[in-house]
Amino acid sequence: MSPLQNPLLISLSLVLLFFPNPTPAQKTSSETTLVSVSPYEETQTLLSWISNLENHQLFFPNPTIPSCNFSAITCNGKGSITSIKLASLNVRGNLHSLNFSSFPNLIHLDLNNNFLYGPIPSDLFTLSALTFLDLSSNRLSGRIPTGLGSIKSLAVLRLSDNDLIGRIPISLSKLMNLEILLLDQNQISGGIPAKIGNLKKLKQLRLDINQLTGTIPMSLGNLRDLTVLNLYGNRLHGLVPREIEDLENLIELDLSNNSFSGRLPQGICRGGSLLKFTAFGNDFIGSIPKGLRNCSSLIRLRLDGNLLVGNVGEDLDFLPNLSYLDLSYNKLSGELPTRWRDLKNLMYLDLSGNAITGTIPPEFGKLSKLQKLRLSQNHIVGGIPKEIGQLSLLFELNLTDNRLSGRLPLEFGKLANLNTLDLSENYLSGPIPKQLGNCSNLLSLTLRNNSFEGSIPIQIGNLVNLQLLLDLSQNSLSGEIPSELGNLHKLEVLNLSHNMLSGFIPSSLVNASSLILVDVSYNNLEGTLPVNRVFKRASPELFIHNKGFCGSIGGFPPCKSSSTNFGHGRTGCPNLAIFIIIIVAGALVIIFLIVVGVLFIIREGPKVGENKVSEENDDNPFSVWNCNGRIVYEDIIEATENFNNKYQIGMGGYGTVYKAVLPTGKVVAVKKLHLNDGELPDELADQKTFRNEIKALTEVRHRNIVKLYGFCSHVRCMFLVYEYIERGNLHDILKDENKAMELDWTDRVRVIKGVARALSYIHHDCRPPIVHRDISSNNILIDLDYEACLSDFGTAKVLKAGSSDLSTFVGTLGYVAPELAYTMKVTEKCDVYSFGMIVLEVLMGRHPGELVSDLSLPGGIDILLKDLLDQRLSPPTVEVVEELVFIVMLGLACIHSNPQSRPTMRDVFQKLSFCHPHLLEPLDTITLSQLIDGLGDESPTFDAS
Ligand SMILES: *[C@@H]1O[C@H](CO)[C@@H](O)[C@H](O)[C@H]1NC(C)=O
Ligand SMILES: *[C@@H]1O[C@H](CO)[C@@H](O)[C@H](O)[C@H]1NC(C)=O
Ligand SMILES: *[C@@H]1O[C@H](CO)[C@@H](O)[C@H](O)[C@H]1NC(C)=O
Ligand SMILES: *[C@@H]1O[C@H](CO)[C@@H](O)[C@H](O)[C@H]1NC(C)=O
Ligand SMILES: *[C@@H]1O[C@H](CO)[C@@H](O)[C@H](O)[C@H]1NC(C)=O
Repeated sequence: MSPLQNPLLISLSLVLLFFPNPTPAQKTSSETTLVSVSPYEETQTLLSWISNLENHQLFFPNPTIPSCNFSAITCNGKGSITSIKLASLNVRGNLHSLNFSSFPNLIHLDLNNNFLYGPIPSDLFTLSALTFLDLSSNRLSGRIPTGLGSIKSLAVLRLSDNDLIGRIPISLSKLMNLEILLLDQNQISGGIPAKIGNLKKLKQLRLDINQLTGTIPMSLGNLRDLTVLNLYGNRLHGLVPREIEDLENLIELDLSNNSFSGRLPQGICRGGSLLKFTAFGNDFIGSIPKGLRNCSSLIRLRLDGNLLVGNVGEDLDFLPNLSYLDLSYNKLSGELPTRWRDLKNLMYLDLSGNAITGTIPPEFGKLSKLQKLRLSQNHIVGGIPKEIGQLSLLFELNLTDNRLSGRLPLEFGKLANLNTLDLSENYLSGPIPKQLGNCSNLLSLTLRNNSFEGSIPIQIGNLVNLQLLLDLSQNSLSGEIPSELGNLHKLEVLNLSHNMLSGFIPSSLVNASSLILVDVSYNNLEGTLPVNRVFKRASPELFIHNKGFCGSIGGFPPCKSSSTNFGHGRTGCPNLAIFIIIIVAGALVIIFLIVVGVLFIIREGPKVGENKVSEENDDNPFSVWNCNGRIVYEDIIEATENFNNKYQIGMGGYGTVYKAVLPTGKVVAVKKLHLNDGELPDELADQKTFRNEIKALTEVRHRNIVKLYGFCSHVRCMFLVYEYIERGNLHDILKDENKAMELDWTDRVRVIKGVARALSYIHHDCRPPIVHRDISSNNILIDLDYEACLSDFGTAKVLKAGSSDLSTFVGTLGYVAPELAYTMKVTEKCDVYSFGMIVLEVLMGRHPGELVSDLSLPGGIDILLKDLLDQRLSPPTVEVVEELVFIVMLGLACIHSNPQSRPTMRDVFQKLSFCHPHLLEPLDTITLSQLIDGLGDESPTFDAS
């Protein structure tokens, strides 16, 4: 749980946070910094920057009061800001408007993982006390400011994962206190400055995924404390300096995907602390470094895609911790050493594409953690040892393109986790063992180009998870194609070509509805082809060289024989007459059954219980909590491609919203809750309460409330399923010039009335009443008829606060009632306040922002109403103008600072529906001050009616 949501912290901060604007006398001369800024100015600068950020869900009790000792912002004893932590808040904006000279005492600035764009301002160097700067995972562009080099105190500099260009400024080499320098995942070019070698305290240097050129400076060897050096994915070339061997504290060294040449540093791992060494995708020659032979700390070694030579068995020895070994696509030779049975932690072994000889040692069956074994494209001979069947975790086995012979061991049937099996291009013979049908997790099975004989075991039809490929081509298989292959509902590609199969293609293949390619060429098959999409669209080559197909598809000659081969018929294909008779007979039977069924139902009358259940199910496919079994869950995962961004339609306080089209055609909005590590938050531990509350919410049905269908929970994710509302949320509509203009004054009035109706309903007509707690323009959706639909009602409470009324950090900045800062008590009146903000937002076309705080200043509010109205629309016509003015007056009453003085939502709704006031003045002269408190008895603006 983020400390942001901790009520205790917040109440503490509320006690501590008030700072009066200090008088000049209070600015003591003992200030250590050159610029003297008052704490009040600091917080003002910061809060005004924050309030201009889009999307932020930060809640500051009152934007006009400076706040610190708040988890996101901490201050020193004098109230000057020392730390700003606003990581991972999805905020969007630039740094331009943040005047850094306002924070002379800032030590820690963390804006990691947001959507900040634009350049890094060069006045950043004025942060002379800064030790920690993290701007990583944003969209910052431009160059790294040279001025950073003058922040002498900097210990951590993280600019990873942005769009930064230009060179690494040499000035960074002046940061003598720097311990962590992360510039990875940008577009930084030029060379690595040799002076980086001056940063003696450096522990981590990440420059990966940039466009750096040149060679590795020898001076990097001076960085004796370095534990991480990552140069992956650049355009570096040349020899790797021997000095790298001096980095004895290295834990991780990555040189991959560059153009390095020459030999790998032989003395690597001298210090014995190396855990990961990767250098794939270069032009390294020579042998595997001697220093790795007994590098017992090593967990991960990737040297694939180089030109390494040598005997694989001799060069790696005592590596008890090794879990990932990839030496594929080199020029390694020698035999697989039986000693490797001691690599007890090995999970991944890839030696593909080398020149390895000898046999697969049966001892490999002892590698009990092995999940992937790839030995393809070598010169391995002999049989596949049956001990491989003991590798119970094996997920992928690829032995393609070797010289393996003999039979496939029956023990393969024990590989229950096997997902990919590729034994193609070998000399394997004998039957395909029926035990293979037990490998129920197989996704892809390739036995192509061997000498397998006998028939295809019917058990292959048990492999219902086969999806990618079933390739049995280029063998000597005979007999008929088992009709059980029709059970392979997920299979996409079936290749049976170049065998000696005979008989018909079973019509059951019609059931394998995922097929996109079937190749049966070069067999002895005959008869008609099953009638479905894949066969209809197939190109003729996929059927050539058979005994002879006939029939309507594929351009084959008409069938001669009159007997039918439906099901397992012997010869020929049905003639038209039989076909028609069968169809007509079938149709008659169906009609008969329907008639009988209807009569039966009429006579029996509805069985109350059963019918109710099925009705409920039709109406609402999501029963609360378990989503009607796992079907709907899986449908949603499938429809959103496991929550792929391309289906994302919004971002809310507690989650990301996706659009999902279910197989039934029904469209739903799915809100995937943001949970740390996929765990249920502590508050949800009481699942029963939670379930009941969600259930109650699913029962709310109202024209202006988005239907909550239910809730799905799964180990790794939880989501709420809502009705899908076409036009999206009000915030986005108002932000978009075109959409905002489509939403004319009449529509806007309708939207406001709809929201009022919905709130009146949940406050006054639901038992128990529901307080929304987080009304903002993000939570108001607009349907095709421009009706407002309130979403996310009640979930704020359910999701965050159990059944307590004490508010945790609920609400969106700019919509939260000011009393929440003092009382912590959420009442209906908080919703009323937020509604008032919505009214102003809809009529102004943007969030009122500062306006609301200005309203409470004496004399600061003589703004003409007409100037406030959304200027993108033409001025309201006489028909709506009276209503508009009345609505503004109601809205202003709703944001009254005293909750008791605010009207209830029922009042508001009734006034909106039934009052038809008559305006006494023209719009052009009405000011806001006139409308404040206008609901009192004698309004100067309206003639009561
Ligand atoms: C903030 O908290 C620290 C310790 O938690 C305290 O020393 C300091 O005085 C507080 N600052 C203000 C301005 O209240
Ligand atoms: C930034 O703040 C400093 C100190 O508060 C002030 O002197 C300076 O004028 C400000 N600069 C801008 C561009 O607002
Ligand atoms: C290696 O770099 C090239 C471009 O230089 C890129 O296309 C390729 O995807 C990278 N390979 C890996 C495995 O990252
Ligand atoms: C590897 O063996 C060599 C000589 O046998 C020894 O000097 C070195 O310290 C060993 N390295 C590790 C990491 O054990
Ligand atoms: C097996 O490895 C080869 C490369 O050696 C690759 O082309 C083939 O696609 C792999 N088989 C499967 C099923 O992934």
